[in-house]
Amino acid sequence: MSHPAAVQSQKTATLDALYALIREDLKRVDALILERVNSEIPLIHDISRHIVASGGKRIRPALTLISAQLCGYTGPRHIALAAAVEFIHTATLLHDDVVDESKLRRGLATANELFGNKASVLVGDFLLSQAFQLMVADGAMKSLKILSDAAAVISKGEVMQLMTEGQPETTIENYLQVISSKTAVLFAAACELGAVVAEEPDAEDALREFGIYIGIAFQLIDDALDYAADQATLGKSIGDDFAEGKITLPVILAYASATREERVFWIRTLSDLDQTQDDFDQALAIINKYHGIEQTIQMAERYCQKAKDALAIFADSEARSAMLDIVDFCMSRVY
Ligand code: IPE
Ligand code: IPE
Ligand code: MG
Ligand code: MG
Repeated sequence: MSHPAAVQSQKTATLDALYALIREDLKRVDALILERVNSEIPLIHDISRHIVASGGKRIRPALTLISAQLCGYTGPRHIALAAAVEFIHTATLLHDDVVDESKLRRGLATANELFGNKASVLVGDFLLSQAFQLMVADGAMKSLKILSDAAAVISKGEVMQLMTEGQPETTIENYLQVISSKTAVLFAAACELGAVVAEEPDAEDALREFGIYIGIAFQLIDDALDYAADQATLGKSIGDDFAEGKITLPVILAYASATREERVFWIRTLSDLDQTQDDFDQALAIINKYHGIEQTIQMAERYCQKAKDALAIFADSEARSAMLDIVDFCMSRVY
């Protein structure tokens, strides 16, 4: 698979400093997650463990933990809330892989590949229910509202996305609304919760804003990677978006500038889903002709800058610097 220069030339930033700062907390989050999926029903246990233990970057719970640290929080509440955030994320992944008919996730066969669609959907609901139990156990109306609102917006975003499927004339504005809803809102909630547990109301807006911007950038890069990544490193199949007629920014940009012949190609492949083996390479070639990957990366860069700006109100600290590293990781990530 070819790697556009723009993807390759990004220097690789790591999450090492972040993980070092929250190592103990993250262990407690993982232990709590594993404890909650230890169901007496074998299928629930097997599927939950399959997805949970297969890794994942834990970037959303990490955001809750580091945001709490940034706000000087020293209590225990952030652990369960971070676990709730990861449960919502994991539930959406199970559902998303059914909808997207994806076969690879976190470097392994997806749950739908191994256990079937029905079981994946049902266990996705189980994971979501774990998130809600943890939220209620936290006992604060504010955290309950932040997370339940996020869960509602995510599902709306996934449905809005479904409505744009096969429509390459979708506007950038519409696309941004979809990715804000399906992805960025959970990043925002994860960050805002850090300020909430620390009872630092002045930090709530800034952290929420940081989360929205980094979440939008994260999905923009994900959408670039779906065309341009190395599949083994990414741990997900590339070309899934194209195969299902999903409309992402690289396509929107290429379609907007397309010749008549290229438009016919996009309509056949994405709207009619009439695809042959060579079509993905052809799609990537057309996207590259219009610098669709580079432009997507550039847009992500602009959102990353906004995310960094949102942290301006905080004094310099290790936590703040780790959060700036997360932004750089989002830009340079290859997995
Ligand atoms: C995947 O999220 C879903 C998107 C929003 C693109 P991640 O890339 O954070 O997935 P894991 O948790 O690390 O596997
Ligand atoms: C993210 O979109 C889906 C969710 C927010 C659940 P994608 O469909 O692009 O995510 P991946 O690429 O399958 O991880
Ligand atoms: Mg998907
Ligand atoms: Mg994707």
